[in-house]
Amino acid sequence: MSKESINQSRLPKHIAIIMDGNGRWAKEKGKFRIFGHESGVKAVREVSEGCAELGVECLTLYAFSTENWNRPKLEVNALMTLLVRTIKSETKTLMKNGIKLDAIGDRSNLPKDCRRELEEAIEATKDNSGMTLILALSYSAKWDIVNATKIIAQKAVDGEISLEEVNEELIDKTLTTHKYPHPELMIRTSGELRISNFLLWEIAYSELYFTTVLWPDYRKEHLYEAIIDYQSRERRFGKTSEQLAT
Ligand code: FPP
Repeated sequence: MSKESINQSRLPKHIAIIMDGNGRWAKEKGKFRIFGHESGVKAVREVSEGCAELGVECLTLYAFSTENWNRPKLEVNALMTLLVRTIKSETKTLMKNGIKLDAIGDRSNLPKDCRRELEEAIEATKDNSGMTLILALSYSAKWDIVNATKIIAQKAVDGEISLEEVNEELIDKTLTTHKYPHPELMIRTSGELRISNFLLWEIAYSELYFTTVLWPDYRKEHLYEAIIDYQSRERRFGKTSEQLAT
Protein backbone atom coordinates (compact mmCIF):
# COMPACT_ATOMS: atom_id res chain seq x y z
CA MET A 1 0.00 0.00 0.00
CA SER A 2 1.43 3.33 -0.93
CA LYS A 3 1.21 6.71 0.69
CA GLU A 4 -0.30 8.11 -2.55
CA SER A 5 -3.45 5.98 -2.06
CA ILE A 6 -4.27 7.88 1.15
CA ASN A 7 -7.08 10.43 0.90
CA GLN A 8 -5.64 13.47 2.70
CA SER A 9 -9.10 14.94 3.24
CA ARG A 10 -10.20 11.90 5.28
CA LEU A 11 -7.15 11.49 7.45
CA PRO A 12 -7.80 10.43 11.06
CA LYS A 13 -6.89 13.28 13.42
CA HIS A 14 -5.89 10.86 16.16
CA ILE A 15 -4.47 7.32 15.85
CA ALA A 16 -3.95 5.08 18.88
CA ILE A 17 -1.71 2.02 18.73
CA ILE A 18 -1.38 -1.06 20.94
CA MET A 19 2.23 -2.00 20.19
CA ASP A 20 2.20 -5.75 20.74
CA GLY A 21 4.42 -8.70 19.92
CA ASN A 22 7.87 -7.57 21.05
CA GLY A 23 8.33 -10.63 23.26
CA ARG A 24 7.26 -13.11 20.57
CA TRP A 25 9.44 -11.37 17.98
CA ALA A 26 12.47 -11.78 20.24
CA LYS A 27 11.60 -15.39 21.10
CA GLU A 28 11.35 -16.28 17.40
CA LYS A 29 14.94 -15.11 17.11
CA GLY A 30 16.11 -16.98 20.23
CA LYS A 31 16.71 -13.70 22.08
CA PHE A 32 15.60 -12.24 25.42
CA ARG A 33 12.28 -10.34 25.51
CA ILE A 34 14.01 -7.01 26.12
CA PHE A 35 15.70 -7.35 22.73
CA GLY A 36 12.19 -7.24 21.27
CA HIS A 37 11.38 -4.06 23.21
CA GLU A 38 14.67 -2.46 22.11
CA SER A 39 13.90 -3.37 18.51
CA GLY A 40 10.42 -1.91 18.92
CA VAL A 41 11.92 1.56 19.26
CA LYS A 42 12.63 1.60 15.49
CA ALA A 43 8.93 0.98 14.85
CA VAL A 44 8.04 3.82 17.25
CA ARG A 45 10.30 6.13 15.21
CA GLU A 46 8.88 4.94 11.87
CA VAL A 47 5.27 5.34 12.91
CA SER A 48 5.80 8.72 14.58
CA GLU A 49 7.57 9.99 11.49
CA GLY A 50 4.94 8.45 9.19
CA CYS A 51 2.05 10.06 11.10
CA ALA A 52 3.80 13.44 11.31
CA GLU A 53 4.58 13.43 7.57
CA LEU A 54 0.96 12.67 6.71
CA GLY A 55 -0.41 15.40 8.97
CA VAL A 56 -2.02 13.21 11.66
CA GLU A 57 -2.51 15.52 14.67
CA CYS A 58 -2.17 13.03 17.55
CA LEU A 59 -0.60 9.63 17.95
CA THR A 60 -1.07 7.73 21.21
CA LEU A 61 1.17 4.74 21.89
CA TYR A 62 0.44 2.18 24.60
CA ALA A 63 3.98 1.93 25.97
CA PHE A 64 3.37 0.57 29.48
CA SER A 65 0.08 -0.48 31.01
CA THR A 66 -0.94 -0.51 34.67
CA GLU A 67 -0.97 -4.33 34.34
CA ASN A 68 2.60 -4.35 32.97
CA TRP A 69 3.84 -3.60 36.53
CA ASN A 70 3.08 -7.29 37.21
CA ARG A 71 5.71 -8.49 34.73
CA PRO A 72 9.01 -9.93 36.12
CA LYS A 73 10.97 -7.18 37.89
CA LEU A 74 13.88 -7.60 35.50
CA GLU A 75 11.66 -6.87 32.48
CA VAL A 76 9.94 -3.92 34.18
CA ASN A 77 13.32 -2.38 35.08
CA ALA A 78 14.67 -2.98 31.58
CA LEU A 79 11.57 -1.37 30.03
CA MET A 80 11.85 1.68 32.30
CA THR A 81 15.56 2.05 31.47
CA LEU A 82 14.72 1.76 27.76
CA LEU A 83 12.01 4.38 28.08
CA VAL A 84 14.31 6.84 29.88
CA ARG A 85 17.07 6.24 27.33
CA THR A 86 14.72 6.58 24.35
CA ILE A 87 12.98 9.72 25.60
CA LYS A 88 16.39 11.29 26.28
CA SER A 89 17.91 10.35 22.94
CA GLU A 90 14.84 11.18 20.85
CA THR A 91 14.10 14.68 22.21
CA LYS A 92 16.36 16.24 19.56
CA THR A 93 14.49 14.42 16.76
CA LEU A 94 11.16 15.49 18.24
CA MET A 95 12.35 19.11 18.20
CA LYS A 96 13.63 18.78 14.63
CA ASN A 97 10.26 17.46 13.49
CA GLY A 98 8.19 19.93 15.51
CA ILE A 99 6.62 17.09 17.52
CA LYS A 100 5.15 17.79 20.93
CA LEU A 101 5.45 15.03 23.56
CA ASP A 102 2.80 14.32 26.17
CA ALA A 103 1.85 11.43 28.45
CA ILE A 104 -1.32 9.90 29.87
CA GLY A 105 -1.51 7.62 32.89
CA ASP A 106 -0.41 7.57 36.50
CA ARG A 107 2.90 9.43 36.40
CA SER A 108 3.24 9.22 40.17
CA ASN A 109 3.91 5.49 39.78
CA LEU A 110 6.90 5.91 37.45
CA PRO A 111 10.46 5.67 38.79
CA LYS A 112 11.86 9.14 39.57
CA ASP A 113 14.38 9.22 36.69
CA CYS A 114 11.77 8.12 34.18
CA ARG A 115 9.33 10.76 35.37
CA ARG A 116 12.03 13.44 35.27
CA GLU A 117 13.14 12.60 31.71
CA LEU A 118 9.53 12.48 30.60
CA GLU A 119 8.63 15.80 32.18
CA GLU A 120 11.77 17.47 30.82
CA ALA A 121 10.98 16.25 27.30
CA ILE A 122 7.34 17.37 27.63
CA GLU A 123 8.51 20.82 28.76
CA ALA A 124 11.18 21.06 26.02
CA THR A 125 8.72 20.22 23.24
CA LYS A 126 5.64 22.04 24.56
CA ASP A 127 5.78 24.91 22.05
CA ASN A 128 6.19 22.67 19.00
CA SER A 129 3.30 23.09 16.63
CA GLY A 130 3.35 19.79 14.74
CA MET A 131 1.93 16.43 15.78
CA THR A 132 1.47 15.47 19.44
CA LEU A 133 2.99 12.13 20.42
CA ILE A 134 1.22 10.86 23.52
CA LEU A 135 2.80 8.04 25.51
CA ALA A 136 0.45 5.95 27.61
CA LEU A 137 2.67 5.14 30.58
CA SER A 138 1.47 3.33 33.67
CA TYR A 139 -1.88 3.77 31.98
CA SER A 140 -5.04 1.73 31.87
CA ALA A 141 -8.46 2.97 30.87
CA LYS A 142 -10.07 1.59 34.03
CA TRP A 143 -7.47 3.40 36.16
CA ASP A 144 -8.22 6.64 34.31
CA ILE A 145 -11.99 6.20 34.73
CA VAL A 146 -11.67 5.40 38.46
CA ASN A 147 -9.32 8.37 38.90
CA ALA A 148 -11.76 10.70 37.12
CA THR A 149 -14.66 9.31 39.16
CA LYS A 150 -12.81 10.11 42.41
CA ILE A 151 -12.09 13.67 41.25
CA ILE A 152 -15.74 14.21 40.28
CA ALA A 153 -17.04 12.59 43.50
CA GLN A 154 -14.79 14.86 45.57
CA LYS A 155 -16.19 17.92 43.77
CA ALA A 156 -19.72 16.71 44.48
CA VAL A 157 -18.89 16.08 48.15
CA ASP A 158 -17.36 19.57 48.40
CA GLY A 159 -20.52 21.04 46.87
CA GLU A 160 -18.67 22.39 43.80
CA ILE A 161 -20.93 20.48 41.40
CA SER A 162 -24.42 19.01 41.54
CA LEU A 163 -25.39 15.50 40.35
CA GLU A 164 -27.10 17.03 37.31
CA GLU A 165 -23.75 18.37 36.17
CA VAL A 166 -22.25 14.87 35.96
CA ASN A 167 -22.44 14.06 32.26
CA GLU A 168 -20.30 12.73 29.38
CA GLU A 169 -18.67 16.10 28.87
CA LEU A 170 -17.55 16.34 32.50
CA ILE A 171 -16.15 12.81 32.44
CA ASP A 172 -14.35 13.59 29.16
CA LYS A 173 -12.84 16.70 30.73
CA THR A 174 -11.65 14.83 33.81
CA LEU A 175 -9.87 11.91 32.11
CA THR A 176 -6.09 12.23 31.55
CA THR A 177 -6.87 12.11 27.82
CA HIS A 178 -8.95 15.34 28.01
CA LYS A 179 -6.69 17.52 25.86
CA TYR A 180 -7.09 15.39 22.75
CA PRO A 181 -9.87 14.33 20.38
CA HIS A 182 -11.00 10.73 20.69
CA PRO A 183 -9.06 8.47 18.30
CA GLU A 184 -10.86 7.69 15.06
CA LEU A 185 -8.57 4.71 14.46
CA MET A 186 -7.09 2.18 16.87
CA ILE A 187 -4.48 -0.29 15.62
CA ARG A 188 -3.23 -3.42 17.39
CA THR A 189 -0.30 -5.43 16.13
CA SER A 190 0.67 -9.10 16.64
CA GLY A 191 -2.64 -10.78 15.80
CA GLU A 192 -4.23 -10.46 19.27
CA LEU A 193 -7.87 -9.38 18.99
CA ARG A 194 -8.23 -7.50 22.29
CA ILE A 195 -8.33 -3.93 23.60
CA SER A 196 -6.44 -4.73 26.83
CA ASN A 197 -7.77 -1.85 28.93
CA PHE A 198 -6.66 0.86 26.46
CA LEU A 199 -8.77 4.03 26.00
CA LEU A 200 -12.05 2.19 26.68
CA TRP A 201 -14.09 5.39 27.01
CA GLU A 202 -12.44 7.16 24.09
CA ILE A 203 -12.84 4.35 21.52
CA ALA A 204 -16.64 4.15 21.78
CA TYR A 205 -16.90 4.94 18.05
CA SER A 206 -13.32 4.31 16.87
CA GLU A 207 -12.57 2.04 13.96
CA LEU A 208 -10.47 -0.94 15.05
CA TYR A 209 -7.72 -2.39 12.90
CA PHE A 210 -5.82 -5.57 13.71
CA THR A 211 -2.70 -6.85 11.98
CA THR A 212 -0.58 -9.95 12.53
CA VAL A 213 2.65 -7.97 12.04
CA LEU A 214 4.72 -8.04 15.25
CA TRP A 215 5.53 -4.55 16.56
CA PRO A 216 9.32 -4.56 15.88
CA ASP A 217 8.53 -5.28 12.20
CA TYR A 218 5.94 -2.49 11.91
CA ARG A 219 6.84 0.09 9.25
CA LYS A 220 5.27 3.08 7.50
CA GLU A 221 3.70 0.87 4.79
CA HIS A 222 1.78 -1.00 7.51
CA LEU A 223 0.52 2.31 8.88
CA TYR A 224 -0.57 3.40 5.37
CA GLU A 225 -2.40 0.06 4.96
CA ALA A 226 -4.33 0.66 8.20
CA ILE A 227 -5.26 4.23 7.22
CA ILE A 228 -6.42 3.16 3.75
CA ASP A 229 -8.56 0.42 5.32
CA TYR A 230 -10.01 2.99 7.77
CA GLN A 231 -10.86 5.28 4.87
CA SER A 232 -12.82 2.51 3.18
CA ARG A 233 -15.20 2.21 6.13
CA GLU A 234 -18.50 3.97 6.63
CA ARG A 235 -18.61 5.61 10.07
CA ARG A 236 -22.27 5.71 11.05
CA PHE A 237 -22.17 6.68 14.76
CA GLY A 238 -25.42 4.78 15.34
CA LYS A 239 -27.19 6.28 12.30
CA THR A 240 -28.26 4.48 9.11
CA SER A 241 -26.43 4.69 5.78
CA GLU A 242 -29.44 6.53 4.33
CA GLN A 243 -29.30 9.17 7.05
CA LEU A 244 -25.62 9.71 6.35
CA ALA A 245 -26.30 10.20 2.65
CA THR A 246 -28.69 13.09 3.23
C1 FPP B 1 4.14 -5.29 24.11
O1 FPP B 1 4.84 -6.42 23.63
C2 FPP B 1 5.02 -4.13 24.24
C3 FPP B 1 5.26 -3.43 25.40
C4 FPP B 1 4.64 -3.81 26.68
C5 FPP B 1 6.19 -2.31 25.46
C6 FPP B 1 6.30 -1.42 24.27
C7 FPP B 1 7.54 -0.68 24.41
C8 FPP B 1 8.38 -0.30 23.41
C9 FPP B 1 8.12 -0.54 21.98
C10 FPP B 1 9.64 0.35 23.82
C11 FPP B 1 9.83 1.77 23.54
C12 FPP B 1 8.65 2.62 23.50
C13 FPP B 1 8.66 3.96 23.51
C14 FPP B 1 7.38 4.68 23.35
C15 FPP B 1 9.88 4.78 23.72
P1 FPP B 1 4.83 -7.73 24.53
O2 FPP B 1 6.02 -7.69 25.42
O3 FPP B 1 3.54 -7.86 25.25
O4 FPP B 1 4.99 -8.83 23.45
P2 FPP B 1 4.41 -10.33 23.51
O5 FPP B 1 2.91 -10.20 23.54
O6 FPP B 1 4.91 -10.93 22.25
O7 FPP B 1 4.96 -10.98 24.74
